[in-house]
Amino acid sequence: MKLNEDTALLSPKILLVPYDPHHVPTYHQWMEDTALRDATASEGLSIEEEYNMQRGWRLDPDKLTFISVIPPAIENETDKASIIAGSDDAASRMIGDVNLFFQEDDDDEDDESDEGMEDGDDNSALSTDLEGPRKIAGEVEVMIARSEYRGRGLGKATLLLFLAYVLRNREEVVAGLCKDGETATLSTLKVKINRNNHQSIGLFENVGFRKKTPGTTNYFGEYEMCVEMPLEQFQVHIDGLLEEYGMGNWRELQYDRSLPNGH
Ligand SMILES: CC(C)(COP(=O)(O)OP(=O)(O)OC[C@H]1O[C@@H](n2cnc3c(N)ncnc32)[C@H](O)[C@@H]1OP(=O)(O)O)[C@@H](O)C(=O)NCCC(=O)NCCS
Repeated sequence: MKLNEDTALLSPKILLVPYDPHHVPTYHQWMEDTALRDATASEGLSIEEEYNMQRGWRLDPDKLTFISVIPPAIENETDKASIIAGSDDAASRMIGDVNLFFQEDDDDEDDESDEGMEDGDDNSALSTDLEGPRKIAGEVEVMIARSEYRGRGLGKATLLLFLAYVLRNREEVVAGLCKDGETATLSTLKVKINRNNHQSIGLFENVGFRKKTPGTTNYFGEYEMCVEMPLEQFQVHIDGLLEEYGMGNWRELQYDRSLPNGH
């Protein structure tokens, strides 16, 4: 989506930057690793397809992504006015990514049909005007691609910072999905994780996601996890975790592409 096109998120532990063309060669190299593709349920792509994918991440309103980067050394946090593309996020500093896919909140539709519909009623034609805002669910993915950086708290830092941004911009992240006259609301956040990926399950439990049906995986052997509390409350929870994790002073900064290759 366009929302974060010029936005970087800076914290003492991690820097998140928009996915730009200069990140593609490194990203493509990461995804050559079969284990990483399996863990993230990703397909192998050619470099041309990865450039197309990068354009999709930028333009499609149903996707939001950032690249996760080791932050530059900064003596005084407030001195840093912008993040310089190609320099602050040079290939050697890139470690992973985090993203969100938006889709209709099916669980919510199920609940409504259970409550309000009678046999034979067809709810497919109900106007969103009558129903109120469309309920949109966001599905999260996170990856620390460089294995030497795993297990150091950077997956958690990436996820917390991303969630804080999404929750702060709850209305804006779904606004691009609305046609004329429609409104939408982000109703829940969820994640699907392979049952053997204990690290990722532990990470998401740690920040407040819960298994929908503990002990049961879906057809693909994945646990489906979600945020059970209202997102207003989850935002307060995540802000508290960021404070505890020494990241409460994170800031949104301009992502500056005016210097070619950061020079
Ligand atoms: C899953 C992944 C993102 C975790 O990132 P990471 O940087 O290695 O994890 P962190 O060091 O930030 O650990 C964060 C939390 O995860 C949990 N965790 C980590 N290792 C764990 C393990 N072996 N078992 C259970 N929980 C674990 C802990 O709760 C930990 O928090 P704590 O240190 O406060 O206790 C990373 O390992 C990765 O990218 N793996 C490959 C791709 C992948 O599997 N992505 C997830 C797809 S859904």
